[in-house]
Amino acid sequence: MDKYVIHGGKPLFGEVNISGAKNAAVAIIPAAILVDGVVRVENIPMIQDVIIEMEILRELGVKVRAVNPGTLEIDSRGLNRFSAVSDLNLKMRASYYLIGAFLGRFHRAEVAMPGGCNFGGVRPIDQHMKGFEALGAKMDTRGGVVYADATEGLKGANIYLDVVSVGATMNIMMAACMAEGQTVIENAAKEPHIVDLANFLNSMGADIMGAGTDVIKIRGVSKLTGGVYSTIPDQIEAGTYMAAVAAAGGSVLIKNIIPKHLDCITAKLEEMGLEMEEVDDSIRITKTGKLRRIQVKTLPYPGFPTDMQPQLGAVLCLAEGTSIITEGVWESRFRYSDELRRMGAKIQVDGKVAVIEGVEKFTGALVRASDLRAGAALVIAGLAAEGTTEVEEIAYIERGYEDLVGKLQRLGADIRRVSVPAVAIPKAN
Ligand code: EPZ
Repeated sequence: MDKYVIHGGKPLFGEVNISGAKNAAVAIIPAAILVDGVVRVENIPMIQDVIIEMEILRELGVKVRAVNPGTLEIDSRGLNRFSAVSDLNLKMRASYYLIGAFLGRFHRAEVAMPGGCNFGGVRPIDQHMKGFEALGAKMDTRGGVVYADATEGLKGANIYLDVVSVGATMNIMMAACMAEGQTVIENAAKEPHIVDLANFLNSMGADIMGAGTDVIKIRGVSKLTGGVYSTIPDQIEAGTYMAAVAAAGGSVLIKNIIPKHLDCITAKLEEMGLEMEEVDDSIRITKTGKLRRIQVKTLPYPGFPTDMQPQLGAVLCLAEGTSIITEGVWESRFRYSDELRRMGAKIQVDGKVAVIEGVEKFTGALVRASDLRAGAALVIAGLAAEGTTEVEEIAYIERGYEDLVGKLQRLGADIRRVSVPAVAIPKAN
């Protein structure tokens, strides 16, 4: 079990290159099995979730080749099975995209229920099931496996999502792009990675319009051909480095981003007193003084992203005054507050609301990541803390951040990854 050891108090200076978007890549990779040809996807972040998906596809008999770091070649022409029930699926949430991809290609699917970050609330997939049923699939869940049967074929339908769901929007899109006739998804999610998936599928021959709005129209096609596609940069990774500067201080140029995707994050950091300067595909963020308190509510895009909520929570612990965070997307997402309290934070959590009273400083401590973004919040707190912070359970963090330690070290942070030998439990004699 490895951990990060961080000696805090060092402001960050220099440039950081943002990798491809995790939540786009983990949808585009399974979507590649819809394509009857060779797919080349560039700007893929080499993170644990991507590595697991590559393994899942290889287990299915799909040819997956890392052409170079960040570029995958996927050839699923030989794929002849629609069942993915290995326990690899349990290691991540996005494995459920195989349901939409298998349905689109084979009109059948058997996929183990997904795993993924458990940040305290339920993570249902009822809207995915509703969409697949509307397209003509018979859905069933038995023994932790989702069974989908559309052997009579997939027919386009009008689907109104009861909840704005990124996963359901993407999963339904994958199946619908190969259905007969037109599908309309209303109340669709509008995140940048939704648009990225639609652009990927269209570049392979699909006919999807309106992605990025709450009404997506999909005209089914009979075949998707191969091609080359490059994913968008990760706005949450970019926001995480911006939050690190907000907490630890300094001035950093965040490179290879689409500023528009960060508008809400940038606006909130400016409200807190950070200096932001947009330059083409980069943003320079500089901390010039104490942080001001703010109120924020997480909402579906273009609102403030829930995936930046823990990172912002860590920063607000150091702001002057009392801030309020309302989690508007998940049932609850404040498990990180227990760990920040060990570092001196003053956070009161009541359901979906956290009240954060600013403190002078964090003090280093031994803390444990409970999920991906909570782990990022602890790293941010450690960078700002007085003394040494050790972050355990870093596997969560490495699911979603490429080369986090290297990128932070190049910004002047004193952070290193330390291997901790597993404790050998003496055999009872
Ligand atoms: C995606 O999860 C992201 N994960 C999450 O990021 C992100 O927090 C979330 O979208 C919201 O932006 C991936 O893309 C792999 P949802 P997803 O379906 O698709 C409810 C990270 O840190 N809901 O948009 O699972 C659900 O309970 C991860 O990178 C239903 O009720 O999220 C939640 O309250 C964590 N029924 C809300 O909708 C459903 O069928 C949004 O969920 C589906 C969702």
